[in-house]
Amino acid sequence: MTILILGSGGREHTFAWKIAQSPLCEKLFVAPGNSGTAQVATNVDINVTDFEAIKVLVLKENIEMVVVGPEDPLVKGIHDFFLNDETLKHVAVIGPQKAAATLEGSKEYAKEFMFRHKVPTAAYQSFDASSVEKGFAFLEQLQPPYVLKADGLAAGKGVLILEDLDTAKTELKNMLINAKFGTASSTVVIEEFLDGIELSCFVLTDGKHYKILPTAKDYKRIGEGDTGLNTGGMGAVSPVPFATKDFLEKIEERIVKPTINGLVEDGLPYKGFVFIGLIKVGEDPKVIEYNVRMGDPETEVVLPRLKNDLVEIFSAIAEGRLNEIDIEIDERAATTVMLVSGGYPEAYEKGMEITGLEYIDDSIPFHAGAKLENGKIVTSGGRVMAITSYGNTYQEAIKKSYQSIDKLNFDKMYYRKDIGFDL
Ligand code: AMP
Ligand code: GLY
Repeated sequence: MTILILGSGGREHTFAWKIAQSPLCEKLFVAPGNSGTAQVATNVDINVTDFEAIKVLVLKENIEMVVVGPEDPLVKGIHDFFLNDETLKHVAVIGPQKAAATLEGSKEYAKEFMFRHKVPTAAYQSFDASSVEKGFAFLEQLQPPYVLKADGLAAGKGVLILEDLDTAKTELKNMLINAKFGTASSTVVIEEFLDGIELSCFVLTDGKHYKILPTAKDYKRIGEGDTGLNTGGMGAVSPVPFATKDFLEKIEERIVKPTINGLVEDGLPYKGFVFIGLIKVGEDPKVIEYNVRMGDPETEVVLPRLKNDLVEIFSAIAEGRLNEIDIEIDERAATTVMLVSGGYPEAYEKGMEITGLEYIDDSIPFHAGAKLENGKIVTSGGRVMAITSYGNTYQEAIKKSYQSIDKLNFDKMYYRKDIGFDL
């Protein structure tokens, strides 16, 4: 089978690494890809939301399966685009259709879905420019910290957590009236703050059946001890040690089942990954958000632990027979540490040569913001590379990742030295 992966991050390199191992994959393309995907696939310089150019590529190369990495093309309806085109509708697209992708594309929609299907989550209300005053009144009823969320996609930056009531009011106004996050913040969800420890649960679904993948925990803040600005993710650990069997059962019964049943009841067509962001409040899981794709860098620890042939799983999803698959998980822990460009998540430089990759033998370097230039691998983004390792414990795996990182270098390289510190 000829397969196309859309995206260019560490997540997509991990997908490419895993899919390339499948005997069912004869030819693999990644658009646009990076220096890592170039090692196992053919990169094609096409933007993930340029559906017409993707169509031309799919027809020219007889591509039979498209695996969608990021949310943008899903929220814009790439799966529907394929289904509505006579020449493309036979292609298996892994990722939900537009209506279901709204679970990530609109926080208000996701909250309504959760309440409709009794999925435990934080209490909330939503507001627009015509109801700012009501928003102020709602904030006054809540206890700090205040959680303000832009309804639409804001590249992971649309959530503000504020200690002070006046600041919360000002920011609410900035979002609704001054378009702080553009049209993404023309509606704002204000929710109750949930105090607890976060983890992520990943579910595969064909729209009827589901399979749960290993849990993972990512480290979003730039600074050690979870301080400083939010990033796309600085590292991850799988499995999550505090996700005991009992707690996982609660997640499945209270969250996964009502979510999948909710998709069926609401007629939301879904073939792909459901990424459920959770917070453990006391002994109970509550949903923070849905994403309609895999996480990054969580993919870099979850997929390496999956023993199955991923193409076999994707084919089962496309054909609505995911129930026939038995998921097999590697007992070992996996960890990843993200190397980032100095300055990230604010301004940073690109084009720094990355050296030492040839000395890494005990970890898997998944390339993210890295590209090939004149035969050299150079930085091309904020998050540059995720260094994944296995271990009998997560501590052992983390140690290996740090030992591998000691062999790597690029100008102004930064990484957190405390991944797993809170476990
Ligand atoms: P999101 O973009 O929805 O993942 O939110 C970004 C981050 O904000 C989450 O990873 C949490 O750390 C935090 N967060 C979001 N909603 C809440 C909430 N209701 N209570 C506490 N923290 C939250
Ligand atoms: N690591 C968080 C995300 O992929 O959204």
